[in-house]
Amino acid sequence: MISAGDPQLSVVLSGYGGYECLKVMPWPTRLLGKGDVQVAVVVCGMNFADLYTRQGLLHERKPPFVLGMECAGKVTAVGDSVTHINVGDRVLCYQYTGDLYREHVVVSASNCFVLPSGMSYEHGAALAANYLTAYFCVLDIGHLRDGQSILIPSCAGGVGWAATQLARSVGTVTIFGTCSPGKRDAVQKNGVTHPLNHDNYDQELLKHSPDGVDVVIDSVAGSAFSTSQRLLKPLGRAVLIGSSSVVTGSKKIGMWNFLRMWWDTKGISATDLIMHNRVVAGLHLGLLMEREPDRIREAMDHLFQLYEEGKIKPYIDSTWPLDKVVDATKVLAERKNVGKVLLTIERTDSSEL
Ligand SMILES: NC(=O)c1ccc[n+]([C@@H]2O[C@H](COP(=O)([O-])OP(=O)(O)OC[C@H]3O[C@@H](n4cnc5c(N)ncnc54)[C@H](OP(=O)(O)O)[C@@H]3O)[C@@H](O)[C@H]2O)c1
Repeated sequence: MISAGDPQLSVVLSGYGGYECLKVMPWPTRLLGKGDVQVAVVVCGMNFADLYTRQGLLHERKPPFVLGMECAGKVTAVGDSVTHINVGDRVLCYQYTGDLYREHVVVSASNCFVLPSGMSYEHGAALAANYLTAYFCVLDIGHLRDGQSILIPSCAGGVGWAATQLARSVGTVTIFGTCSPGKRDAVQKNGVTHPLNHDNYDQELLKHSPDGVDVVIDSVAGSAFSTSQRLLKPLGRAVLIGSSSVVTGSKKIGMWNFLRMWWDTKGISATDLIMHNRVVAGLHLGLLMEREPDRIREAMDHLFQLYEEGKIKPYIDSTWPLDKVVDATKVLAERKNVGKVLLTIERTDSSEL
C-alpha cells in the first residue's frame, strides 16, 4: 500500500494543446477516503475522449491534472464502508473525469468492478468505456433485435468494435460500418456485413437497404448527424455519443471548428421526428454511471456473462509503456488503430500483483 499523497508516475496534462502537453512525471495521489479503493494499476485503456480532453473540447477539470478514464489492476487497500471489493481483488475502474493513468490510483469503489476470473487485465482495461457505451447504444436505447439492421460509424475503433460484437449477439442482423479502407478485412472478420467508406457511406448504404436501418450510432456528429436521422427506417433509433469530426489536427480545437460542429449537430426538427416516426437519443456514459449506478452494474454483469460465453472479446491494437504515451496517442489521432490501445505500467516490484 502506498501512503496518501505519495507521488506516483503519471500522465499529466499540463494544458490544452498539442502532444507537448502530455508529461510523464511523478504526481501526488489523493487521500484514501470513505468508500474509496486503492489499486496497483497494471494496464490503462486509452480512449478517443483523451484527444478531446487534451485538445480542449472537454472541460471536466482545469489542467494540470492526471489523464486517463480507465484502468485495470489489483486492489491494495480499501476505505471504510466498502463492502463489495476486497484487498487482492482484480478490478477494472472507469472514471470519466480522469486521474487513472498512473502507477496507483485512488478511486471510488462505485467506479470499480471485480473482474471475472478468466478475464485478463488487458481485456478488463478495454471493457468499460467501449463495451458499456456500445451496450447502451445497441441493446438498451437502440433495442436492436434479430432480423434488424444497424449503422456503426468508425466500426474499427474501440466502441465500434464492441458495438459490432454486441449487434452480432442478438441474432441475424445486418451491420453497416464505416472505416478507413485498410481496416475492411479486420472489421469484416469481426462481423460487419458491409464495410463502407467515410465519404459516401449514406449512398452506399441505401443501395443495399433502400429503406435505411433500424439503429444508427452517431459518434461523428456535425453534418453526419442529419444523415444519421435521414437513414432511419420508421421507428428507427439514432443514438448520438460523440463528435469525432471536431478533431481535425493534433493541436487545441479552434473555436471555428467547434462552432461549425455545434451548428451542424443542433438540428433536430420536432416535426421531422413525428412525420418520420424517428427516435433520436443521446448518451453520456460517465454521467450515467454517476446518476444510475444500478443500471451500469446490471449492464456490466451482462457484459461479463457475454464475455464468459465467448460472445464478446476486446481486440487489442497495441500496448505501450506509460512513457510512450505520445506515440500511443498518435495511433488514435492518426486513425491507425483497430480496437483498443493500451498503456502498461512497468513495475520493478511485482509483489503487489
Ligand atoms: N458518449 C459516451 O459516453 C462515449 C463513450 C465512449 C466513446 N464515445 C465516443 O465514441 C467515439 C469512438 O470512441 P473510441 O474511444 O472507440 O475511439 P477510437 O478507438 O479512438 O476509434 C476512433 C476511430 O474513429 C475514426 N475517426 C477518427 N477521427 C475521425 C473523424 N474525424 N471522423 C470520423 N471518424 C474518425 C478512426 O477510424 P477510421 O478512420 O477507421 O474510421 C479512429 O480509429 C468517439 O467519438 C468518442 O467520443 C462516447
